Amino acid sequence: MNHFINEPKPSHFGGDWSQQKLSVLSKYLSAYTTVLKKQNFSLIYIDAFAGAGKLDIPSEHSLDSQSLLIEQEERDEQEQYRHGSPLMALATTPSFDKFIFIDKNEQSLQNLCDEITRQNHAEKSVNYLVGDANEEIEKICDKVDWKSHRAVAFLDPFATEVEWRTIETIAETQAVDLWLLFPAMAVNRMMTTTGEVPAQWQEKLTRCFGTDAWKQVFYKPNTQQRLFDGASNRKVMRPFEVLSGFVNDRLNSIFPGVGKRNLILKNSKNSPLFLLCFACSNPNPKALGLALKIANHIIDTSS
Ligand SMILES: C[S@@+](CC[C@H](N)C(=O)[O-])C[C@H]1O[C@@H](n2cnc3c(N)ncnc32)[C@H](O)[C@@H]1O
Repeated sequence: MNHFINEPKPSHFGGDWSQQKLSVLSKYLSAYTTVLKKQNFSLIYIDAFAGAGKLDIPSEHSLDSQSLLIEQEERDEQEQYRHGSPLMALATTPSFDKFIFIDKNEQSLQNLCDEITRQNHAEKSVNYLVGDANEEIEKICDKVDWKSHRAVAFLDPFATEVEWRTIETIAETQAVDLWLLFPAMAVNRMMTTTGEVPAQWQEKLTRCFGTDAWKQVFYKPNTQQRLFDGASNRKVMRPFEVLSGFVNDRLNSIFPGVGKRNLILKNSKNSPLFLLCFACSNPNPKALGLALKIANHIIDTSS
């Protein structure tokens, strides 16, 4: 029985998936600053795909081929219900000490800056970085003194823009908690049923997973032929369940602690769009235990 096809429709439905995402993040940020404010760290919120703060519909021409794997209808749902993670993070109490907003679209960041001023957050310490999220995260992780800073990073791409090396860089800080939207629908579509995956998509998938083991995990040979010799591969059943387990295994291979399950964000047709995943890079048992307890509780009470 395919769990994703036959299970009852969730109570969070339609565009609610976007609100669900922001609600989980918002609850975690409040709990995080409440706990960490009692300690002597400077707290940073990093939003690597910040957006414009409010509705910001990109033109089709600005989207890469992977982004286009999410159908326009689903994109409309994303856009229609988008409230904006940066503004939500700025409203967190107690407040973070510093906010870093990254977006490759300069106009979006300008609009975000205007909106932040309009909403009277201008007194907050905000850095706007125009650029590719992967490159900017690497620079930040390299530059910040993690002995005196702690951070939450939110990676909220349209599709497969996040590269695995970026997630590794975050894990290496031992000081950043990560909330990652993993593009379940996009990667599922790139992994075609026959296994005839265009070379460019194969490369993209390998950069996204940080390994080419996806070829063995998601495909079984139909005959004795070697995998990826041609169209003789068979895609696994229940690909989204396999995907969720695989993504968690990948995160567990580089983080000391990972949420015990991912929140599956579905569109109004009940199809999985994204997995919302949590990982904590701080190996300190007390900090790690508390972060996981809070994140798991939020995920359990959000689905
Ligand atoms: C899903 S939206 C982010 C939504 C935002 N987190 C919110 O809640 O409003 C994705 C954003 O990522 C930006 N973007 C896409 N690819 C990027 C990249 N490689 N690096 C940085 N930003 C990127 C887009 O311009 C867009 O504003």
